[in-house]
Parts: sequence; structure tokens; C-alpha cells
Amino acid sequence: MCGIAGVVGQGNVVDTLVRSIRTLEYRGYDSCGIAVLQNGALAVKKGVGTVEEVSQAERFSDLDAATGIAHTRWATHGAVSAENAHPFTSCDGRIAVVHNGIIANWTELRARLEAHGHKFRSQTDTEVVPHLIEEQLKLGAADFETAFWQSLNLIDGAYSFAVVTSLEPGRVFVAKHKNPIIIGLGESANYIGSDFNAFIDKTKRAVVFDDDEYGVITKDDFWVKSRLTREVVCKDVTTVQWDAEMAKKGGYPHYMLKEIHEQPHAIRMALGVDARGMAQVVEMLRAAKRIYLVGTGTTYYVALVGQYLFKDHARRFVSAVAADEFTLLAEVDAETVVLAVSQSGETYDTMQAIRCAKAAGAKTAAVVNVMGSSLAREVNVALLQMSGPEISVISTKAALAQMVALYRIAADLARADGTARGDAADVAAAFAALPDLVQQVLNEKSGFLNTLAKHTCGWKDWLFLGRGVYYPIALECALKMKEVAYRHAEGMPAGFLKHGTLSLIDDDICSLIFVPPKRDEALHKMVLANIEQIRAREGHVVGFVYDADESLASLLDERVLLPDVHPSIAPFLELLCGQMFAYFTAVALKRPIDRPRSLAKSVTVP
Ligand code: AGP
Repeated sequence: MCGIAGVVGQGNVVDTLVRSIRTLEYRGYDSCGIAVLQNGALAVKKGVGTVEEVSQAERFSDLDAATGIAHTRWATHGAVSAENAHPFTSCDGRIAVVHNGIIANWTELRARLEAHGHKFRSQTDTEVVPHLIEEQLKLGAADFETAFWQSLNLIDGAYSFAVVTSLEPGRVFVAKHKNPIIIGLGESANYIGSDFNAFIDKTKRAVVFDDDEYGVITKDDFWVKSRLTREVVCKDVTTVQWDAEMAKKGGYPHYMLKEIHEQPHAIRMALGVDARGMAQVVEMLRAAKRIYLVGTGTTYYVALVGQYLFKDHARRFVSAVAADEFTLLAEVDAETVVLAVSQSGETYDTMQAIRCAKAAGAKTAAVVNVMGSSLAREVNVALLQMSGPEISVISTKAALAQMVALYRIAADLARADGTARGDAADVAAAFAALPDLVQQVLNEKSGFLNTLAKHTCGWKDWLFLGRGVYYPIALECALKMKEVAYRHAEGMPAGFLKHGTLSLIDDDICSLIFVPPKRDEALHKMVLANIEQIRAREGHVVGFVYDADESLASLLDERVLLPDVHPSIAPFLELLCGQMFAYFTAVALKRPIDRPRSLAKSVTVP
């Protein structure tokens, strides 16, 4: 869960490297470093803090070089310290390595290397790599490439590496196994990045590595070889559809707010998801005996919302399973379809679930935002949601768009099955109007939600309650509150409250209720009963409710009134309010919005 960048160009590339890892900071931001080839020798600088802080404190700008690598870290092995920051060098200081992933057999490798006299300076798994390459050279490897390749064959685990060496000036070596690495092809300069953002301001032409490939970039050229056969692999050049502007804040104080405001566009893109891919997914689902939706964190909650959408729109029961539990729980065979949901397409747990499903003969598909990501390449059919880059660690637009894409799949499945609801056309029209409604709520409710958050930000404990599809919406909004505002928020089915948690209701806990529109009569009644249970214990209650719902006026301490809409799209407006409420609470509490402590955007570790 780190960001890797590399450049071979002409003139000084240090600024480019610093900019690259700054754009990758959402992948990790506890420490960072740079290694460049300057006057024939490696120069390494690193430290603890953000790219901004470390590059200034360590005076990265004093460096002047045309070849280099850089790294921004999210600690897995070894504490957050300058010694444990990447890059790491060999004993002779001629090889520097940055890494994303985990080397499973690093303790054995380190013991072996130490026995051969190698001196280690960190507690990380990565530091074995420069020493391993150095050792292969000592043992007589024909050249640096051979030493690198031999080292890769000794490593067990997940990795993407970028390596510079004074032995091969003007080259950056790279390798991939289970963690992403991409080459960017520029004019008299080539780039390396963990994803397209690393070099999107320089070039849109990219080459995506597959597992067990390694390669080299020079200023004007590149090659990729298979680690298994050592033969050259002929790679396609992909044109990235994002541009640098899309990955900038564009006047918003935070990416999270910008991305919340991009939701009307993200919904439109999700509604128009590629028809061919959609037809393939529908065919796959129709042939299946068992269907799983998988994701982790927010995308698990998206999968849970999907469970209700499949029931409501396709009359199908599908199982939503958290990807991190999937291998322990799911029954998978050749008649199973696993549909994964992921923004990054790099999440370890989700990739593991898909790999395990494939190994058991299942068919796989994904709703994914990042083109060329590991997940998009691994599954049988990838539906690209085209939400544009999501930079904030807090997922907002990607999640809402994924829910809309799942509705589309469920509705198309129902049509193919001949089980579409009688009001399917009305529902489709309601979804078509959703982007404008989201815009309306953004315009009309932002101010009120901001004021509400200022009033309520003192509450340290929250219950977020909903029934039906509002239950996973409540779970997702509670996750937003936890990760961005650092407030304890427990998402729960409102009906579950009376089975234990009701004993928590007192002056120290506030409940946020996700109320359906009154037209959703049965559900509305149930939620009303649950609010009464809290009020009877003098609990403090805030509600997201729909206009003209006066039945609730006396039961709620605070209300956010939403425009009356079709019940099928109402949950999405409440999700939007939950996202904004968490955002404004975090602002009121002066939290670091886009990069909360201890988190990273792309979780590529178990
Ligand atoms: C979302 O706000 C979280 N940062 C996190 O739960 C995230 O959704 C999860 O790690 C899955 O990531 P993915 O969508 O990139 O697979």
C-alpha cells in the first residue's frame, strides 16, 4: 500500500519525481524518499512525514539527476521511521530499491544474507531486495538484469519494485507480482508509476504490467520480459482516459468534497455503463446457480446494497460476502458467479476472493473504476464505472456510482429473466433523474448539513440506523463518520436495536435514523416504531426524512428534509447526506480530510 514512481529523462527529473509521489500519497503517506543517479553515484534522501514535509526538510531540490525512483509509504513491516522509509540500498550503495507489497520469506532471506556479511539498517521486508541483487552479482550473475531476475525468483510474496543502480546508468528496472506497476511513455522520457496518476500530467500512453513480468525503461525505450521464461513480452500501449485536470482539486478545499460534488456525473456514467460488458455479465448471472457480490469496507457495503437491489429489481437472492471473509465462507464451484466491486481494482482481499473463485472454476466479473487495474485484468468481464479518478481516501462518488451500476445489472437481469417489476419503467425514469436530484440536494442542503454538523460534532458516539436497503446505507455512512471524523459510529439495522443495543441509549449517544419516504409505507412504519423506542428512553435523535413527513416532526431533535422522490432512489439521497454530514463533521473537528490517520486508499496487503 505504497506509491512508487520512477523516471528516466533528460535534464533534472527530481521535481517530476516529487510531483509523482505527491499524486500517489493517497496510497500511503507516513514517510517517503527518493534515490537518483547523480554524477555516476546514487544519492538517497528520505524521512518521516508527507512528501511536502520530507522533500523540504531533506532538501530534495538540492538533487539534480536525469534518472531516479521515489516512494511514499504506508507502513506494514517496521515502524514509521526514517530508517524504514524507502528507498533501501545495498551494502556498497550502488543499488536502490522501492517496493509496494509484502515479501513473505523476508526473514529467511535476511538471515541468509546476514550470514554472508550483509548489513541491514531497517526492520523492513523490502531491505532484503538490494542485498539480494548485490549477492547475486557477487555470486557471478552475468549482468545486472540477470542478478535482478535471479533475485525475483528467490522472493516469495507480493510486490511491485522499481530499482536504480549506478551499474546501469539511465535505466530503471521494474517488476510486478500481485501489486500494480505501469510504464508511462513520454517524449524523451519514460515513467514508472503505481498507477496512471503518477505521470498523467506528462503522458497518457501507458503499458500495464501483468503478474510475473519485469522490465526496464530508458529515456527513449522500454522492454518487458516474462519472469517465468525470460522471453520478451509484446505489450499493448493503452491510452489513459483520465486527464491531469480531473485529478486536481479544482477550487474545492478537499478532494472528498470535490468528489461528492462529482456524483451527478459519476451516476450518469454508471447508468451508461458499456452495453456489451453488461450483456455478458447478465448472461453469466443467468447461467449461474449461485451468485456472490464481494467487496471490502465501503465496497462490501455497496455489495450489501446490491443484495437489496437484486431482490427489489430482479427478484433474486444473491449473497453479499466481505471479500476478507470470502475464502473462509463461500461455497464456490463452476456454477458460481462472483461479482466483485472495487474502486481501485487493487485491493488484496478482493483479489484473493476472485483468485480463489477462479481456482474453483467460478466465473468472475467486476464493477471497477480503475482501467488496467489488477482486478479489471483478472476477471472474465470488467465493467468500468468511469467515475474518473477518486483521490480522497474516503470513497464517495465511486461507491454511489457502483450502487447505480448494480441497479443497472439487476434491472437488465430482470428484463432478460422476464421478471421485471410492473413499474420498471417508472423506476428507470427515477434513476435517470437521480443525477439532477443529487445536484439539487447538493445545492440546497449543503449549508444546512454544515450547520447541523457544527451543532452535533461534539457527540462522540453515534448509532446509525436503517431498515431494508437503508441498513447498508447506514453502515456506509457510519464508516464515513469513523474514517474521516474519527467519531465512533455504529451502523445497525434499526430493528436490531431492541435486541441489546437499546441499553446504550442515554445522554451520551446520538442516533441518526435513515427514514424512507412515506410512500414506502411498510418500511416507514417499522422505522417509526424504532424511533419511538429510542424516544421512550429519552434518546437524542437526528433523522434524514422526506418533505411532507410531518409524522416525524415531534419525534426528531433535528431533521434533514429531502425532496419527495421515488422510493427506489431515495436511499441514494440519504447516502449523499451521510457523506456530507461526515465531511462537515470532520471539517468542524479540523480533521485531515483526504488523508485520515492510519489509512490508505488502496489496501494491497492482507
Ligand atoms: C472507503 O472510504 C474506504 N477507504 C475503504 O473501505 C475502501 O472502500 C476499501 O478499502 C475498498 O477499496 P477498493 O474499492 O479500492 O477495493
